[in-house]
Amino acid sequence: MKLLVILLLFNISFVICYKPVILLHGILTGPESMILFKNRIEEKHPGTIVYNIDQFGGWSSLENMWYQVQQISQTISNITSKHPEGVHFVGYSQGALLGRTILQANPDHKILRYISLSGPQAGQYGTQFLHIYFPGLALETAFELFYSRVGQHTSVGNYWNDPYHTQLYLSYSQYLPYVNNEILSNKSDQFKQALTKLDLLVLIGGPNDNVITPWQSSQFGYYDHNGTVVELKDRELYQNDTIGLKTLYEKKKLKLITVPGIDHFMWHLNLSICDNYVLPYLD
Ligand SMILES: *[C@@H]1O[C@H](CO)[C@@H](O)[C@H](O)[C@H]1NC(C)=O
Ligand SMILES: *[C@@H]1O[C@H](CO)[C@@H](O)[C@H](O)[C@H]1NC(C)=O
Ligand SMILES: *[C@@H]1O[C@H](CO)[C@@H](O)[C@H](O)[C@H]1NC(C)=O
Ligand SMILES: *[C@@H]1O[C@H](CO)[C@@H](O)[C@H](O)[C@H]1NC(C)=O
Ligand SMILES: *[C@@H]1O[C@H](CO)[C@@H](O)[C@H](O)[C@H]1NC(C)=O
Repeated sequence: MKLLVILLLFNISFVICYKPVILLHGILTGPESMILFKNRIEEKHPGTIVYNIDQFGGWSSLENMWYQVQQISQTISNITSKHPEGVHFVGYSQGALLGRTILQANPDHKILRYISLSGPQAGQYGTQFLHIYFPGLALETAFELFYSRVGQHTSVGNYWNDPYHTQLYLSYSQYLPYVNNEILSNKSDQFKQALTKLDLLVLIGGPNDNVITPWQSSQFGYYDHNGTVVELKDRELYQNDTIGLKTLYEKKKLKLITVPGIDHFMWHLNLSICDNYVLPYLD
């Protein structure tokens, strides 16, 4: 008994030090949408410093992806300069794609673990998603708008990936084919190196998402040219190790988590998602 008390006292005096966490919200919402998550992290991991990015909330979330990457990167650099020990990063929805690009665009990033909460990592092609933002647009012809100079001013145009118009996607999209190294550029090596620098990449998504289409895009799966979904490990992107996902996997640094029954607008509000699939990686 005495020993137990001593042990307990000893334990309490041992300070648990959690790494700071950066949160990045989704499209057409802002930092307020991530407050539940922030509070939960602070409650379950007392003492964690949580930064909830407040840039590009509301309509401004539709601005060009590269512009957002550039602007938010400055904030992230400011944050990480205060934490040389490194930070963790959780991005939700469009924010999950933005956050992933931010770390790829910054070869000296101090991000240790990156958690992507249902982000369109391999692109997006679906009516439900489209109609949230562009109610009048038909799926089959949306490419005509998005694969144009005007369309590329919107974030959605930047990661619209129409599997039936791959050549136009590659010609017009200024963003996704580059960050996924589908088009090689003088940044391709850096994009891969910066991603493989991570300690851990966690890709969370699920079949009842209803917005990310195909939902497997949250784990870098995507449609082939016939509209059949190809899982990450069967894609050339993985097999060629185009952006380092295979390297991460072989080093046990890539985790794919599939959770059924979760609607897209619940990932960041359902605290059991936070408790079961996010908090375990935020130590
Ligand atoms: C970064 O930090 C500097 C110095 O504290 C500050 O002047 C600047 O506004 C910050 N930039 C951003 C984007 O937060
Ligand atoms: C990389 O490519 C971009 C766009 O083509 C160009 O503007 C830039 O100067 C190039 N940078 C280097 C270091 O070659
Ligand atoms: C598309 O379908 C055709 C006919 O069924 C098939 O021969 C071809 O291999 C398919 N292409 C892909 C990329 O799956
Ligand atoms: C994968 O590698 C093969 C063989 O080198 C090449 O033909 C193909 O274009 C590559 N695909 C991607 C997505 O990099
Ligand atoms: C919350 O997530 C759990 C799985 O972690 C699921 O069983 C439950 O149905 C979800 N609740 C809602 C309201 O989505």
